Amino acid sequence: MEINKSIVIMNKKGIHARTAAMIVSFTNKIKNKYDVQLYIQKQNTHNKMPIGSMLVLTSLRIKQGETIHLSCIGENAKQALEEMENYISGQIDQKMKNIEEFDEVLEENTINVRSELESIREIKDKFGSILNHIGDGICLMDNEGVITYVNTAYEKIFEINARDILWKYVKDVYPNRPSVKALEEKTNILDVLIEEKEEKQIISNSTPIFVNGIFKGVLSTYKDVTDLKKMMYRLDQAKEKIKYYEEELKKKDNIHEAFHFIIGRSVLLQESIAMASKAAKTSATVIVRGESGTGKELVAKAIHDASQRKKEPFIKVNCAAIPENLLESELFGYEKGAFTGAMKRKMGKFELANEGTLFLDEIGEMNYTLQAKLLRAIQEKEIERLGGNATIKTNIRIIVATNKNLEEMIANHEFREDLYYRLNVIPIMIPSLRNRKGDIPLLVEHFIKKICTQENIKIKTISSEVLKYLEEHSWPGNIRELENVMIRAITLSEGEAIEIESFPSYIQSISKRKNTKLINLVEGDLATMEEYDREIIKLALEKYKSFNKAGQILGLTHRTISLKAKKYKL
Ligand SMILES: Nc1ncnc2c1ncn2[C@@H]1O[C@H](COP(=O)(O)OP(=O)(O)OP(=O)(O)O)[C@@H](O)[C@H]1O
Ligand SMILES: [Mg+2]
Repeated sequence: MEINKSIVIMNKKGIHARTAAMIVSFTNKIKNKYDVQLYIQKQNTHNKMPIGSMLVLTSLRIKQGETIHLSCIGENAKQALEEMENYISGQIDQKMKNIEEFDEVLEENTINVRSELESIREIKDKFGSILNHIGDGICLMDNEGVITYVNTAYEKIFEINARDILWKYVKDVYPNRPSVKALEEKTNILDVLIEEKEEKQIISNSTPIFVNGIFKGVLSTYKDVTDLKKMMYRLDQAKEKIKYYEEELKKKDNIHEAFHFIIGRSVLLQESIAMASKAAKTSATVIVRGESGTGKELVAKAIHDASQRKKEPFIKVNCAAIPENLLESELFGYEKGAFTGAMKRKMGKFELANEGTLFLDEIGEMNYTLQAKLLRAIQEKEIERLGGNATIKTNIRIIVATNKNLEEMIANHEFREDLYYRLNVIPIMIPSLRNRKGDIPLLVEHFIKKICTQENIKIKTISSEVLKYLEEHSWPGNIRELENVMIRAITLSEGEAIEIESFPSYIQSISKRKNTKLINLVEGDLATMEEYDREIIKLALEKYKSFNKAGQILGLTHRTISLKAKKYKL
């Protein structure tokens, strides 16, 4: 007996793999139970096929709403087919519905999970690129101290490649880092790291991370403040410079421009100049003291030029250059016939200097009797020509100069004490060059310009090396000696640079001398503390090349040493 039935497939997905498997397995049950043959034919097709395998069923590609024809052959075909129909359009339907619903939920969830994953990935990427664009270095390590993440800035700051340190124990890579301490102590550690290589300064901040109270690792951030420090330092420098120039300007304001030709910034010299500038405003007698060649005459002339008498004569008498017996007539003049050879009246320097300044150089060389006459002329403000009896009223500013130890001369009765007190109204001490060696570069530059201009040749240069040797000489002849040495060197040097070979042998030998001692009592006298200070700072900076290190060695702060370096123009 053969029975046929048509069934409309209502499953959403038609007969797909899962439905086909169920139908095949049910078919096998029915076949065994009723001993029947079962066939399937898709509507509008000609093939009638046995429902034996999943392959057959799925190959038909039966969709929702399509009709299939089932035929059953056998004794119990009717019952068998009824059960098949029930199964396909009833139970299977229900089962499939459940499965499909489940599938849908599953699919929906998968979509949700997928998009959640997507957004997590997006956030991760965003964070990644944010972290890599941050200027601060970031390093993450887990609770075991294994480095799990570093950003680009971190690689840059420490000049490493992430792959060289990732997944390594921080203790093995950076045993001394504050992050190791943060890991061990589980506390926040703020510290400054100094990277030796480039003298980098890095602020490091290591924080333990706790999630729900459980320690998860350490997050460290690193801020490179080297540039900031440099900028702060430059700013400091600029401020100091401004302060310096302001002070210089103030000083220059107070100091008459006549003194600007006197080269030198050392404190000792500037104090003398300030004193001279004050003295120039009065008519008081000035005594300029200092070793030979220190610039006593220069100062005397500047005082005159800065005074109200500047348009009046500046008359100089060198007491050492004029024979003793002629000095008196030179100073006070004579009448015709005053002595043999006095053919006509001659005016003395006092008269010539009237209304102006009389500069008595080398006053220590004047003889004792003449000293009395000089004292009288100064006290009375009047003179008499030799061989005359008329007194001449004078209005003269007296400046004297000496390199002699007048106090010792007084003790030896070589210089009159009363004259000394008369002259010692405003004493101005000019420092020796060896006590202001810091001024040597300035003076050398000044003389090169002056001499080359005079000689009408191109301005020559001098290396700091050679300057260093010049600074090491003790300069017993002071600035005059330096000027002469420079004239010689400029004349002898052929090239544009003035080489050490153009200097006298006693300076050349300095360049060959090793281990020059700072305190050299054999060579010369002691220098001022300021000179020693300068020498020491200079040596330390030459040796250590950094304010930090030089400061450490000398026990000074970075700030103190940089201020000193600025002050001494190092
Ligand atoms: N501070 C200075 N700046 C520039 N040139 C200077 C300075 N001091 C001295 N000189 C120069 O050095 C030389 C010597 O100076 P000056 O004649 O004034 O010294 P002095 O103390 O009078 O010496 P002496 O005791 O031998 O008479 C001069 O040519 C002078 O122009
Ligand atoms: Mg002189």
